[in-house]
Amino acid sequence: MAIEHESSEHGHFTWRFMKEVFRTTKTTGAVGPSSMALAEEVTCRAQLQAADVVVEFGSGTGVFTEVIDRNKKPGAYFLALDVNPEFVRATRERCPRVHVVEGSAEDTARFLQEAGYHHCDVIISGLPWTLFPEELQDRILGAAYDVLRPGGRFVTFAYTLSPLFPSGKRFFKGKLPAKFPNVTRSRAIWKNFPPAHVYIADKD
Ligand SMILES: C[S@@+](CC[C@H](N)C(=O)[O-])C[C@H]1O[C@@H](n2cnc3c(N)ncnc32)[C@H](O)[C@@H]1O
Repeated sequence: MAIEHESSEHGHFTWRFMKEVFRTTKTTGAVGPSSMALAEEVTCRAQLQAADVVVEFGSGTGVFTEVIDRNKKPGAYFLALDVNPEFVRATRERCPRVHVVEGSAEDTARFLQEAGYHHCDVIISGLPWTLFPEELQDRILGAAYDVLRPGGRFVTFAYTLSPLFPSGKRFFKGKLPAKFPNVTRSRAIWKNFPPAHVYIADKD
């Protein structure tokens, strides 16, 4: 959740997010939308100026989507995915130029193919990994790895306490570095609530 001053438009999207938090506890995995501070850190780490095809997992109400859209290379293709139809509607309203699809990150390759692409250069994930069962963590991480071009970058975040939970530890200390041997972690983003770290993983 953003703790800095929010415009009335941001307030509107925050309210729409909060309504879904209680309705979809198994997929949302946050107490509110991410802050602009986290959106900017995630986007900056993604090195968007070098990317021709960009994918976002779990757009929510479009906090990251808006910043990615503003910072991507002119002409780059940008696909945003979310499983929740209410979040898909919100992201489309907020970012009308972005191709926002209702579907799971597991099916990224199919959605990219439907748009005429076989690979992507960058994936930015807002997914709640700690909430996911192990098989879903494996399927989505595998799908991300397979669809990334060699040299591509996978950027995701975790609340600072997530790696202390068994499922968070399994993902951030086990599965992520096992799949992507080059993982680095940002400083803590204290302006986010809860505070978070950004993880940057490069495919060889
Ligand atoms: C923690 S929220 C983050 C939303 C937004 N990126 C932000 O930072 O405010 C997680 C988002 O992932 C979406 N999500 C959950 N499982 C998904 C999946 N398998 N594929 C795509 N999106 C998913 C949820 O619907 C939710 O919008």
